[in-house]
Amino acid sequence: MNKQFTEDVHNGLSNTPKRLLSKYFYDEIGDELFVEIMNMPEYYLTNSELEIFQQQAADIIKAFEVSGKPFELIELGAGDGTKTIELLKELKSKKDFTYIPIDISQHALDGLEKRLAKELPEIDVKPLQGDYFSVLDDIKATDTVKVILFLGSNLGNMLDVNANRFIKQLSERLSSKDKILLGVDLKKSADIILPAYNDAQGITSRFNLNLLTRINKELGGNFDIDQFEHAPLYNVEEGQAESYIRSKTDQDVYIKASDTTYHFKEGERIHMEISRKYDSDTVNKVIADTRLYIKKIFTDSRNYYSDFLLEME
Ligand code: TRP
Repeated sequence: MNKQFTEDVHNGLSNTPKRLLSKYFYDEIGDELFVEIMNMPEYYLTNSELEIFQQQAADIIKAFEVSGKPFELIELGAGDGTKTIELLKELKSKKDFTYIPIDISQHALDGLEKRLAKELPEIDVKPLQGDYFSVLDDIKATDTVKVILFLGSNLGNMLDVNANRFIKQLSERLSSKDKILLGVDLKKSADIILPAYNDAQGITSRFNLNLLTRINKELGGNFDIDQFEHAPLYNVEEGQAESYIRSKTDQDVYIKASDTTYHFKEGERIHMEISRKYDSDTVNKVIADTRLYIKKIFTDSRNYYSDFLLEME
């Protein structure tokens, strides 16, 4: 892990423009800040998806078309599972399914497992730790019916080409009639979107800057966190939020693990993450060249967010 982390940080900071990989956000502090992001008033995504699940769970589950068959419910990036629990509650009368939450963070999975043992002990849970790509190896094309949950607009954190490649690889593990419930944030005014990535309390800022702290701790870096700032924007043309860390001054940072000094110009930015916003066209682009098609769309009452039910032909 540390070797890969060192290599990824080194490559990212040697690149022009500089970049860091968002999968490294999630250490213990990152996990906690992320839960805080989900709960902040400006972050409408979670509430919108929660509303869809609270109000439309029965319809969603009916559309899964799994009644009477044993199936696997596989969630990519399950996190603390707050939203999924709404679906699980509705599903629990069907005893013949296994819930397989997958997450990069063992810490998040442990929390989820404990919570489920308490709130829904009747459910068969098999957590798996790993990133999305290593997880593909664990998902085998088998006879068992599969429903994949890919929620929280997590797909939007990949560039479209990567999202398309990922969905393609995922769909190769699926059989006819298997489904993906894909939760995505919809394109809309920057006035609504930007505060979700730039909250008044500065939680998103701490979340982003925590990756520099993590590099200091785990790779022996000497980032002076006060000399960097969180700088998000909403790119209307692309329909995506973009987050950057900007260097406040001209400065050098040394990282022991790579034994390298990285130079930052005043105002230079490190690209951290994108959050793409969708409509049906963008979803269709992402599922192009697969056997998936949009079967049904579930949207919240404000029209901010949709869960697209995709089905294999
Ligand atoms: N995928 C969600 C989004 O794009 C959650 C998320 C991922 C997020 N990374 C983030 C939210 C960074 C805020 C900041 O919104």
